[in-house]
Amino acid sequence: MSYEWQAPKEGDVRSPCPALNAMANHGYLQLFEALQKVFNEDAILATFQVANCFTIYGKWFAGKISLEDLCQHGKLEHDASLCHVDTALGENWIVKKDLVDQLIASAIDGKIKPESLKNTFRARYLNSKENDPDFTFGTFQVQLAAGEYSLFLNIIGANTNKEVDAKVAEIFFHEERLADEWTRPNSSVSLPTIIKTNYEFSKIMNAEIKELN
Ligand code: HEM
Repeated sequence: MSYEWQAPKEGDVRSPCPALNAMANHGYLQLFEALQKVFNEDAILATFQVANCFTIYGKWFAGKISLEDLCQHGKLEHDASLCHVDTALGENWIVKKDLVDQLIASAIDGKIKPESLKNTFRARYLNSKENDPDFTFGTFQVQLAAGEYSLFLNIIGANTNKEVDAKVAEIFFHEERLADEWTRPNSSVSLPTIIKTNYEFSKIMNAEIKELN
């Protein structure tokens, strides 16, 4: 099997997750193995993620999850995403170029940093609050979004100082491709690392939400 990137073909299914789509576009499909191989997650983090999603989607008996399952709103999929519209406003798995541009414009010194994600989250939250009649963003959604930001900064940031080169981020979100300049984290990424950043983001996001309501 070749792991060259290939744009999805007519009829291929994709999800609202840029990381899973990037793995699918590169031809990796075994989730547990791919999370370790592609993103250098350690076995505990990969087990945690895979077990969590098999539970959330009730797929233990089926033994597999499709990218389409991940589009179900109210499970892992939530409102106020960085680069996807809310389910009530359109197709939640399609990447929106103007939203990618908004995210990339939040870069500081050419890098997407925690502050960039905080500012983009704020804009996305306000937009959903104004335009989405079904807008929901409670404690669970804060945890989910904070988890995504944490995975992004630690893994796509490749264990650097929780920052991602803006070009690498643009390619990841817009093309769902792992940029040539991107290097896999040189040591494995652990569950405690992800939880720590998740906790820091949850605090920041809860403070923002309080201010905006
Ligand atoms: C079992 C593994 C994973 C599952 C089941 C999963 C699932 C999802 C789902 C359903 C969403 C959509 C949430 C929304 O509505 O915005 C999402 C978004 C996201 N995921 Fe994943 N994901 C996984 C692994 C990863 C990894 C390893 C990374 C980073 C390397 C990652 C980064 C992201 C980011 C940054 C978003 C936010 C997209 C946006 O806000 O537009 N995910 N993921």
